[in-house]
Amino acid sequence: MLKKIFQPKQKKFDRPYHLLQIESSMNCNLECVMCPWVDLHNSEKLLSWETFSHIQPYLNQAKEVDLTGGGEPLTNPYIPEMVKAVKAAGCKVGFSTNGLHLTPDVSETLIQLDMDWISFSFDAATPETYHRIRQGSSYETVIGNIRALKALKEEAGSQVPHVMMVFVMMSGEHKNFHELPAYIDLAHSLGAEYIIAKNLDVIVKDGDFERGLFSHAGTHLPEVVAVRQQAEKRAKELGISLRLYNLEPRQQTICEQHPVHNLYINYAGNVSPCITLSYADNRVFNGERVHVPCLVYGNVHDEPLETIWNKADYDAFRKLYERRLSVEQEAMLQAILGGDESEYSLPDAPEGCRTCYYLYGI
Ligand SMILES: C[S@@+](CC[C@H](N)C(=O)[O-])C[C@H]1O[C@@H](n2cnc3c(N)ncnc32)[C@H](O)[C@@H]1O
Ligand code: SF4
Repeated sequence: MLKKIFQPKQKKFDRPYHLLQIESSMNCNLECVMCPWVDLHNSEKLLSWETFSHIQPYLNQAKEVDLTGGGEPLTNPYIPEMVKAVKAAGCKVGFSTNGLHLTPDVSETLIQLDMDWISFSFDAATPETYHRIRQGSSYETVIGNIRALKALKEEAGSQVPHVMMVFVMMSGEHKNFHELPAYIDLAHSLGAEYIIAKNLDVIVKDGDFERGLFSHAGTHLPEVVAVRQQAEKRAKELGISLRLYNLEPRQQTICEQHPVHNLYINYAGNVSPCITLSYADNRVFNGERVHVPCLVYGNVHDEPLETIWNKADYDAFRKLYERRLSVEQEAMLQAILGGDESEYSLPDAPEGCRTCYYLYGI
């Protein structure tokens, strides 16, 4: 807690948006078993150059751009042009991909463009488990593509794109979590610098709540704990970063999407605080199916981005989080001064966030 209060003040940032997440595609070439967006995938749902051009004037007001959304970025033929435009605006840029379309030619282009990072979603260490989960993909092709990227970076003497690998951990008939320790070795051999072992946290499909590893009651399989420990040990030995998430939901003051500074623009130009609220509507929280209305504050075709950002209702949404953050600060200060921090209670998070696992560190 003290660390949090006394950490050096971050340098004031002159670009108002920290991260613009721009959904380059809501189309996909795969049908992953856990993907909540599969039913929305459609070959017409690509971010057009015209929509992108409405966002382009604001790129120089952002620090970073993530071109990932609910589909596969590499199904959008304009991806290299978009990366180029974002780099020209002085932002860091990257995207998550299933890697199937990352041919050596595409890798070469992304290296030349100095793209900052790429994240491969790859949820197994063996071909059998991989093919059961990432339906429509090829283990060998994707591994070959990641290896080729590593070789091309070495040839070009380039550190970028930095490589992350993301593993969605599941149990039940999609069980893959036991492969995490072996995955650390695999990711390391492929040149990954950072591994994220995620929970199945966006739950739309029946049965997915039971397939997740976390539990509201704080009970989880002993095997899960052992596997996490083995994975952490192996990651340490290899000197690779591993991010694991909570196994028990605990409400955070604000989620990692940090909607006070970041925003989400979907393939059609709709502006929302994050992907969850862009498509909200239907999901499962603590075993119950919940319906939450989408929060779309405007569309970049109709209004400038700053007009949308400054609308009263969008501002009120962010203010709720600003208030929560300041209450947390006041409580921490009170604790340091020997007072009773429990006197402070956080105001409720916005409605749609209360049933989003990102707010619970999951
Ligand atoms: C929806 S995908 C879109 C980008 C790209 N197609 C990919 O697979 O990386 C973004 C990330 O969400 C992860 N994901 C898919 N289904 C999920 C779920 N139900 N809960 C949490 N993450 C999920 C994917 O593994 C991927 O890392
Ligand atoms: S590749 Fe990504 S977007 Fe496509 S189905 Fe799989 S998780 Fe979903």
